[in-house]
Amino acid sequence: MNGFTIREARREDCKEIQRLIQELAHYSQCPEDTVVETDILEEDGFNCEHPYFHCFVAEPSSKDGGDAIVPDNGGELSDTGACGGSKEREGDNLNGNTLLGYALYFYTYSTWKGKALYLEDLYVTPGCRGQGLGSALFNRVAKRAFESHCCRLDFSVLNWNPAQDFYKAKGAINITEEEGWHHYRLDREALVKLALEVNKADITNE
Ligand SMILES: CC(C)(COP(=O)(O)OP(=O)(O)OC[C@H]1O[C@@H](n2cnc3c(N)ncnc32)[C@H](O)[C@@H]1OP(=O)(O)O)[C@@H](O)C(=O)NCCC(=O)NCCS
Repeated sequence: MNGFTIREARREDCKEIQRLIQELAHYSQCPEDTVVETDILEEDGFNCEHPYFHCFVAEPSSKDGGDAIVPDNGGELSDTGACGGSKEREGDNLNGNTLLGYALYFYTYSTWKGKALYLEDLYVTPGCRGQGLGSALFNRVAKRAFESHCCRLDFSVLNWNPAQDFYKAKGAINITEEEGWHHYRLDREALVKLALEVNKADITNE
């Protein structure tokens, strides 16, 4: 194994993607939060007519398909973490883990500019960082956005996360600082409350 491959995710990758999502939840200091289950990922990304998300995955390039990405350090992978040591690599045994990272995205829409793309997650497993994988995954998503005629690629970063420097080096601007945008959210409980209000109004208007 002398490099990495970036390719489109397949349905059978969902178990591995779910494992990496859990790793990212730990990294994001939210380990107690439940992440989406494998069967939901399969359903929402691969079993429905209009997938709710798309995903690129990174794996050792001895697997087939995709574009091989040779690490900057001359082909050697890190001796720690999921990449494993050289003995593990000879047998291509990554403790049963086959994916090294992923980038999950979906399409959104701007009424000012048209089609846009949102990067929900970008993650590389700790032992494989600093070898160009994150960059390769991110660039593939950016290329997809460009080729789909998207006006932009959006993503959110927690304020303590040093990955902000990674994104800035890619040319990203912090629109909270530059334009004053703040993200808001209605959680499930708030949605239930509003949905019930609509139901009540419908009954009253009948
Ligand atoms: C951010 C992340 C995806 C980068 O992946 P990676 O494979 O280590 O990145 P690369 O090896 O492609 O690095 C590309 C460049 O970014 C720099 N870089 C990578 N991670 C960085 C970080 N956290 N902070 C600052 N710079 C970083 C590298 O030094 C490299 O610079 P160079 O081109 O000048 O050598 C990875 O660190 C990660 O998964 N972090 C945890 C999850 C996370 O924060 N995801 C983003 C949440 S929004």
